[in-house]
Amino acid sequence: MTPDWARLRSAAREVAVHAHAPYSGLRVGAAGLTADGQVVASCNVENASIGLTLCAECGVVSMLRSAGSSALVALSVVAGDGRPLSPCGRCRQILMDNGGPRMLVDAGEGAEPVTLGDLLPGAFDDATLALRRGERGGA
Ligand code: THU
Repeated sequence: MTPDWARLRSAAREVAVHAHAPYSGLRVGAAGLTADGQVVASCNVENASIGLTLCAECGVVSMLRSAGSSALVALSVVAGDGRPLSPCGRCRQILMDNGGPRMLVDAGEGAEPVTLGDLLPGAFDDATLALRRGERGGA
């Protein structure tokens, strides 16, 4: 099923208005489609410590779990200007656990969406963890 990208973009734009971004000045909104058809959306929330800033995608993942869902199938991230924004490296890793490599990421109107696997090739994931934990490696 093709995600309703227009709906996701519009939900992302709506929440970007509520971003708390007094330090960077970059408002971000993200909206995800869950495997069971819900739309969850969140904005970035900055912190005076800078490093403790919450990206919009982190809020989406929190809402995903709070809504009782376990996976995202599509995600749109936009800046305050309404145009698509590529998820940062940390968020790509966080999204991997909550959407997997086949999750689609919006590349903007008229452009083909990309997969999370394309954005984070060779990811460290739950399968790697399960395979490698408990091994005794030499120094
Ligand atoms: N930001 C996000 O919310 N998501 C991203 O994927 C990229 C960056 C936010 C964090 C910070 O509030 C601002 O954008 C500038 O980095």
